[in-house]
Amino acid sequence: MDFWKLMDVVHKRQLIMNPMRSTKLDRFIDLLDLPQGGRVLDVGCGKGEFLLRLNKLYAITGIGIDKSPYCVSDCKTNKEARAPDADIEYLFMDAADYKTEERFDLTCCMGASWIYGGIRGTLEALTKMTKPGGLIIAGEPYWLKEPSPEYLKADEMERDTFHTHMENVLMGDEFGLTCGYTLTSDHEDWDYYESLHWWSAADYVDANPDDPDNAEIIKNAKKYREVYLKWARDTLNWGLYIYRKPV
Ligand SMILES: C[S@@+](CC[C@H](N)C(=O)[O-])C[C@H]1O[C@@H](n2cnc3c(N)ncnc32)[C@H](O)[C@@H]1O
Repeated sequence: MDFWKLMDVVHKRQLIMNPMRSTKLDRFIDLLDLPQGGRVLDVGCGKGEFLLRLNKLYAITGIGIDKSPYCVSDCKTNKEARAPDADIEYLFMDAADYKTEERFDLTCCMGASWIYGGIRGTLEALTKMTKPGGLIIAGEPYWLKEPSPEYLKADEMERDTFHTHMENVLMGDEFGLTCGYTLTSDHEDWDYYESLHWWSAADYVDANPDDPDNAEIIKNAKKYREVYLKWARDTLNWGLYIYRKPV
């Protein structure tokens, strides 16, 4: 089935498409202390929730890029409902192809570092698009402990797809960045994020009993429920990292 449809189905109950609960994200946004009217680039912006919250607090303007037609459509609908006059543009494209001469006050990529081949490539790409003195945010999983071969195989991942929390923090040093703040998830954040995927899949199948994709939706939900409960919950965590680019 269409990958973007599957992602849309499992994220139906969530505006924030990463394992961080809303209240923690709000405090994180408070800390950013962006200039009013600052320019922000959000790569893999999901439903545009982060940009809208930044706009509410800092009147930011900016660009959100996403490859999912469902997400870009949600971005536009959410903006129209909550900040119709905000100068925020949504680009429906592969962010890997996005090129610009602009230097933003804040660039971010949360939960989509594969666009640049991992967190190292993400920091390299975002650093180039950030003003001196600006901020870069990466949202990235990290290993709590060494993943078992069974887990890696079941989730079709390599050990080096992700790093440790400390490695994610120190990765900024390679690009002259200073990691100024980290926010990590806990079991409540992860359980909320993962289990609502199962709930949303069940909601969809109930509401669309004749959809030929249902078997795949159920199979996928069951697979990732097992992967999460058996391995991921105690092996992988999620962090938001704020890096500062020198003036
Ligand atoms: C885990 S979600 C995170 C969304 C959002 N950053 C958030 O935290 O709510 C990853 C997002 O990256 C988008 N994405 C995946 N590959 C992409 C690509 N090559 N270019 C742009 N967006 C992409 C997906 O559609 C999805 O919205």
